[in-house]
Amino acid sequence: MKNCFLYNKDCLQALDKIEENSIQLIFADPPYNLSGGKSLTTKSGKPAVCDKGSWDQIDDIDKFNYEWVEKCIRVMKDDGTLWISGTLHNHPNIGYLLKKFNLWIINDIIWFKNNAPPLLSRNRLVPSTELIWLASKSKKYLFNYEIGKNFNEGKQLRNMWQISSTRHITKHPTEKPINLLDRIIQLGSNEGDSVLDPFMGSGTTGVAAKMLNRKFYGIEIDKEYFNIAEKRISNTIVQNLLL
Ligand SMILES: C[S@@+](CC[C@H](N)C(=O)[O-])C[C@H]1O[C@@H](n2cnc3c(N)ncnc32)[C@H](O)[C@@H]1O
Repeated sequence: MKNCFLYNKDCLQALDKIEENSIQLIFADPPYNLSGGKSLTTKSGKPAVCDKGSWDQIDDIDKFNYEWVEKCIRVMKDDGTLWISGTLHNHPNIGYLLKKFNLWIINDIIWFKNNAPPLLSRNRLVPSTELIWLASKSKKYLFNYEIGKNFNEGKQLRNMWQISSTRHITKHPTEKPINLLDRIIQLGSNEGDSVLDPFMGSGTTGVAAKMLNRKFYGIEIDKEYFNIAEKRISNTIVQNLLL
């Protein structure tokens, strides 16, 4: 695939193969380390132990986060941006790391899912948000402020985004909505720029990047998910053939 570089590898290895200071926008949706413990989720309307897969069970999550964030910073351009999604389970740890690496935290974005599944346990508020850190190396970074208005009826775009969860089109358990990635990529890059996703999963970032005429670097450790992503991106039609 032209302008698309996919690695079926551990991102801790694959990131070393990418040129330093070359990526305009990095979107990372890392493992939240929720599986294998006592966390419950809802499956077909019934409570179930959270089990997203072995990839979501990491012994030393602090060390892992430190390593991949450091490697992402190496490949990010000086005016690039790093977008990291998560939930309350890993968000504080990632925020701490961004500070430790001396990054400039531009925004914390709240993604509100108005159609989040109901909570069966009735002992707390219904989780219906995901959180996205947006950071850069300095206060000089590429940000398409005017394009942001297109996502808010011509008005300034706020840091709370209401985007409904969509029906998954692949078997990946944490597939993100394409609208979310479309918005992020338009805000943080221009046509022809390089976009990287070190935890590609089902390839949502790659699909959005290709549709928007960006170069895409995607890394996924799991062979099955890698194949799904590769096929999905390859089947994506580029509307404007600038690249
Ligand atoms: C939260 S999911 C990403 C979902 C993706 N945003 C999507 O829309 O499909 C995290 C993905 O990271 C992969 N992964 C976990 N550890 C990894 C590692 N060390 N290197 C590369 N990929 C990894 C998992 O297999 C999983 O598919």
